[in-house]
Amino acid sequence: MDTALLAKTAAAMVAKGKGLLAADESSGTCETRFKSVGVECTEENRRAYRGLLFTTPGVEQYLSGVILFDETLRQKTNDGVPFAQYLSNKGIIPGIKVDAGAKNLALCPGEKVTEGLDGLSKRLEEYFKLGARFAKWRAVITIGEGIPSHTCIYANAHALARYAAACQEASIVPIIEPEVLLDGGHTIERCEEVTEETLRACYAALAAHRVAPEHQILKASMVVSGKNNARQAGVDEVAERTVRVLKRTVPAAAPGVVFLSGGQSDEAATAHLNAMASMKGLPWPLTFSYSRALQNPALKTWKGQAGNLAAAQKAFHHRAHMNGLAAQGKWRAELEKQAA
Ligand code: 13P
Repeated sequence: MDTALLAKTAAAMVAKGKGLLAADESSGTCETRFKSVGVECTEENRRAYRGLLFTTPGVEQYLSGVILFDETLRQKTNDGVPFAQYLSNKGIIPGIKVDAGAKNLALCPGEKVTEGLDGLSKRLEEYFKLGARFAKWRAVITIGEGIPSHTCIYANAHALARYAAACQEASIVPIIEPEVLLDGGHTIERCEEVTEETLRACYAALAAHRVAPEHQILKASMVVSGKNNARQAGVDEVAERTVRVLKRTVPAAAPGVVFLSGGQSDEAATAHLNAMASMKGLPWPLTFSYSRALQNPALKTWKGQAGNLAAAQKAFHHRAHMNGLAAQGKWRAELEKQAA
């Protein structure tokens, strides 16, 4: 275990004004996204699309790292350079999603547990050789009638902790992603309660599994109103509740916290991050690790047509730039300047 490398990677992942691009959609998720813009989900189309994102000129100013899917880590640019090497040359750290997806949790109807621990250490060894310096594991917590159960929260926290320990042993920084889904009619108060309970369970499990808080990154879901709840909390309330929960649960020793966008609109994800990053006296830097909120406009512009590449890259660059500003709490001021 190379602790100096772990510390260096973790610090670089949350460097000022930069965040992560999550481009690790499984082939199934990719199919849904591609279908929405009429693109066939072939291996080559997935390569072409990811290549479009990674080769966007200047995007390295805003991206510290990219989370890749196994297939992408083995693919190359149009010029035959492995994506991992291409990204490293640009100063962007390659990362890898290592979980095998959220599966039904036995005896807990409507709840999931993330699988993928079997053989994980061996896979991590290979991923390190292929250039990955951080990893991601996503757990899914659903809010509903009588759920989440204690069983679901603890099963997922335990799996996340075992994954994180294996990563650190392999000198790969683990991203811990316990996503509390925004789907449902629940209130923001309920989301806050569940998020706090989930994070408490995760950090207790991480400590029990000897995971160093200094060498892991939390990927948190924001505390928001359920998608179908009549009262949708405003930006400041989301920011206050989210930061309150993080302060209660995340060790000050953590190098930083990144957020997922979880189905929020592109602009809401940016506004929420901006409001949180503007707060004074935070114990850690906050930044983005978005998939949809960074990629949506680019995917819609691209539509699988090579002729749309430059326009799609421009759209992607814009979202990366806006989120880079938001991570420093400078986005709103920039908007106001532009409007003046
Ligand atoms: P979204 O930003 O689209 O929620 O995706 C982030 C992610 O990596 C989910 O695992």
